[in-house]
Amino acid sequence: MSKTKTTAPDWLESAVFYQIYPQSYCDTNGDGIGDIQGIISKLDYIKDLGVKALWLNPCFESPFQDAGYDVADFCKVAPRYGSNDDLEKLFTEAHNRDLKVCLDLVAGHTSVEHPWFKESCKPERNKYSDYYIWTEGWDSGIGSGLRFINGYADRDGCYAINFFYSQPALNYGFLKPDPKFPWQQPMDAPGPQAVRRELKNIMKFWLDLGADGFRVDMASSLIKNDPDRVGVTALWREFREWLDKDYPEAVLVAEWGNPSQAINAGYHIDFMLHCGVPGYPSLFFKKNIFGNYAERPPVFFDREGKGDVTEFAGEYLKQLTRTKGLGYISVPSANHDFQRPNWDRGEDELEVIFTFLLTWAGVPIIYYGDEIGMRYFPNMPSKEGGFARTGTRTPMQWDNSGNAGFSTASPEKLYLPIDPDPTRPAVSDQIDNPDSLMAKVKELLKLRKENPAFHANSGLEILYARRDQYPFVYERSCGNDRFVVVINPAERETTVEIPYAVPGNEATPVFVRRDVKVSREFGTLKITAGPVSAGVFKQG
Ligand code: NOJ
Repeated sequence: MSKTKTTAPDWLESAVFYQIYPQSYCDTNGDGIGDIQGIISKLDYIKDLGVKALWLNPCFESPFQDAGYDVADFCKVAPRYGSNDDLEKLFTEAHNRDLKVCLDLVAGHTSVEHPWFKESCKPERNKYSDYYIWTEGWDSGIGSGLRFINGYADRDGCYAINFFYSQPALNYGFLKPDPKFPWQQPMDAPGPQAVRRELKNIMKFWLDLGADGFRVDMASSLIKNDPDRVGVTALWREFREWLDKDYPEAVLVAEWGNPSQAINAGYHIDFMLHCGVPGYPSLFFKKNIFGNYAERPPVFFDREGKGDVTEFAGEYLKQLTRTKGLGYISVPSANHDFQRPNWDRGEDELEVIFTFLLTWAGVPIIYYGDEIGMRYFPNMPSKEGGFARTGTRTPMQWDNSGNAGFSTASPEKLYLPIDPDPTRPAVSDQIDNPDSLMAKVKELLKLRKENPAFHANSGLEILYARRDQYPFVYERSCGNDRFVVVINPAERETTVEIPYAVPGNEATPVFVRRDVKVSREFGTLKITAGPVSAGVFKQG
């Protein structure tokens, strides 16, 4: 297949996203759950941080069996968050501050409460019978590779699910329907085509109201029997073509976990994540939050200094070669599905992590609260289908008043409990403290914004990444502007000498946390990085 022509909005080049889990950001009506007015009330904070765009987790009508990833009405804001008017106001207020807002598009499934699904459950054929993947017969479907629920409704068949039982898969068709299973419909069958039109209408609805784009949930899952993603690539290319024509400023962010596939399918951005291509977990995940918190091999960002950055770096470069100039790879600080970086890490370690995230290529995403070092809580009782993910979804800590300034509700009514530690981080403690994590995150965001060398597509050269060795050293560049970044998460001093045949002999520190020294002599960079340190040096 030929590559997609790119018409990416210019602002993506220098953008950093900020992800908001609306339940937990700011509650203005005292019901214990965050709301859209709460997000609006914090737009000045978000702007001041220095990010460019928001991604909101789903905020639509839902029974919340999967925190809103089970949508019952795609075009209606859930009353607990406010109204469509509130969301429209959020778009306007964000735009007034030159911020963008991307919504979460749950394209692959609905809730069992969605009217389309309720209709499709009926034994009598109707307009919605083929909107979902139903087998023929209440005990069929086994061996087809999909997961099914049977006995849910009077319709004599089983429905395929994408995630929980409550998330029936929408029917976009099968790339190659298996003749053994006559209920598998081709992509161009009337049902799948009608579902495509519905999806387009949903996107159009929110774009017309002012949304700037979408993060698409499980973007690669739409077409079934599609192991090489040929069918789903064709589907998303059709959508991108339409967007390029009618909404050229709209942004598509995939939850795909395989940037070269997603970008080839027309996405502007895809993540490296806990799943998909390897690399991301080897940076951060000391334990898996799934599978009973099983220990994992040592990670790179750990003061023990036993990790290996080459798994991530190698995979990233592979992905970059395939996507450069076509779309962007995102390395997020965390998200609502996995642990925050602060799971048994000190502020010094978080500073090193943020120095990496905000000087690295692509489009970074900061998960709300990571900018102040909020913690991940293992073993938190599950809420709305969160299970081990619940501990990464707790309320934002704004100040030291009751409920950390998140809500005026009584504590037992809160969506999730607040970090009980009296020394927990809070925005109010950090905002005027030049040594705080938040101040450092802001400094890095400013550095990134003001220097094109750090922008998404600017030069990235890895200068030192060795198996089981520290530090990690790379160069970011644009024209003659060059910066060398040194990242040493290990609790020991490390020294390296690297050939560096770039004219000049100066290395001026522009951002240093703890003790990092870089000097240049005779085409060599001499680097000494103290314990848990990071530094950015302008070359000249
Ligand atoms: C991925 C989302 O990020 C996750 O939170 C959700 O549970 C599943 N998709 C199902 O929609």
